[in-house]
Amino acid sequence: DMGGHDTYMHKEIHEQADAVDRVLRGRIDDRFSTVHLGGLNLDAREARQIRRVKILGCGTSYHAGMIGAQMIEELARIPADAEPASEFRYRNAVVDPDTLYVAVSQSGETYDVLAAVQELKRKGARVFGIVNVVGSAIAREADAGIYVHAGPEVCVVSTKCFTNTTVAFALLALHLGRTRDLSVRDGKRIIEGLRKLPAQITEILDREEEIKKLAEQYAGARSMLFIGRVRGYPVAREASLKLKEVSYIHAEAYPASELKHGPLALIEPALPTVAIVPDDDLLEKNRAAMEEIKARSGRILAVAHQNQEKADQTIVIPKNEDELDPILMGIPLQLLAYHTALTLGRDIDKPRNLAKSVTVE
Ligand code: F6R
Repeated sequence: DMGGHDTYMHKEIHEQADAVDRVLRGRIDDRFSTVHLGGLNLDAREARQIRRVKILGCGTSYHAGMIGAQMIEELARIPADAEPASEFRYRNAVVDPDTLYVAVSQSGETYDVLAAVQELKRKGARVFGIVNVVGSAIAREADAGIYVHAGPEVCVVSTKCFTNTTVAFALLALHLGRTRDLSVRDGKRIIEGLRKLPAQITEILDREEEIKKLAEQYAGARSMLFIGRVRGYPVAREASLKLKEVSYIHAEAYPASELKHGPLALIEPALPTVAIVPDDDLLEKNRAAMEEIKARSGRILAVAHQNQEKADQTIVIPKNEDELDPILMGIPLQLLAYHTALTLGRDIDKPRNLAKSVTVE
C-alpha cells in the first residue's frame, strides 16, 4: 500500500519524521541526560572499557556508519571508524578484545555483513547490531544491539532507514559519552537537538517543490560531483550513491579538502557540484572550496544552513546541533535523487541490476 504516493521511495522519504520519532520513543532519560538502550546489555563498567569502535556495513549502511563513527568520536571520545563489511572480512583484520564491533544493516540479511559478524564472534569479539528488520539473521547473530524502528522499507534504495540508523548512532554515542566525559550540559544539548529532528525533517520535506525544480535543471548532467568536509563528507557519499542508484547518473563524492589534489581538473560547466556546507567551524573552508570551483566555471548547488553566495543555488535547511546536522543534510538530496530519476523516467523502486537485500557473496 503506497498510501497515495506513486512510489515506495516517495512514501518512505515522507515517513521520516514519524520514523525518527519512533527510534527516539521511550529511550530518552531526562533525569540523567542520557538514553536507555534496552538491547545493549552493556553496564557502565563495560562501556568504559571499550577502547575502540569498529563499524561494519555495506552501501548506505556503511555511510550511516561513517556518520556514526564521527558521532562516537565527538561525543564519547572513543576512537571509531567505519569500514565496508565486505572489505573487512576479506583482509584478515586484526580482531581486538577491547574493540566494540558494530554491524549495521537495514535488512539484517546482507551476506557480507553476516559473514563478518560470524568471523568476529568465532574470534571472541563483542558484536552489536544496528538493524531494522526484527529477528533477522544479523540481529540474531549479534550479542546485543539497537533496533532502528524505521518500519518496513520496500524501495530498493534506502532512505528512511538511513536516517533512522544515523539517529540510532547518535543515541549510542550519547549513551557511551555519558558513561565517560560528556557533561550533563552537553547531554541535555544533544537531547534537545534529537527532539527537534522530526519537526525539522517535516520542514525540509515541505521544500519539495523547490527541490523538484532543481532536479529538473540538473537531470541533464552526465556526471555530478558531491563534496563535503568532515561531518559533510559521509553525507556527500550517501547523496552520491542515491543519485547513481536511482537516476543512473554518474556521481562521485570527494572530501572538499581533497579537491586540489586531483578532482579540480574535472571542473567545467558540464560537471555540476553539490556542496554540503553546514554552518559549523568549517564554514569558511567550505566557502573557499566553492570559490575554487566557481573560479573554474563550475556550477554549484549548496545544501546549507544559510544562503551561500558562492553557490548558484542553495537549499537552505534548519540548523540542529553541529554533531547532529549530518542526520538532516542528506534528506533534501534524497528528494533531489528522487525527482531526477522521475524526470528521467527511471524505475524508481526497482533500479536495474539491484536487489533489496544482497544475500549472496
Ligand atoms: C542503498 C542500498 C544498498 C544497501 C546495502 C546494504 O540504497 O540499498 O547500498 O544499503 O546493500 O543493505 P543492508 O543495509 O540491508 O545490509
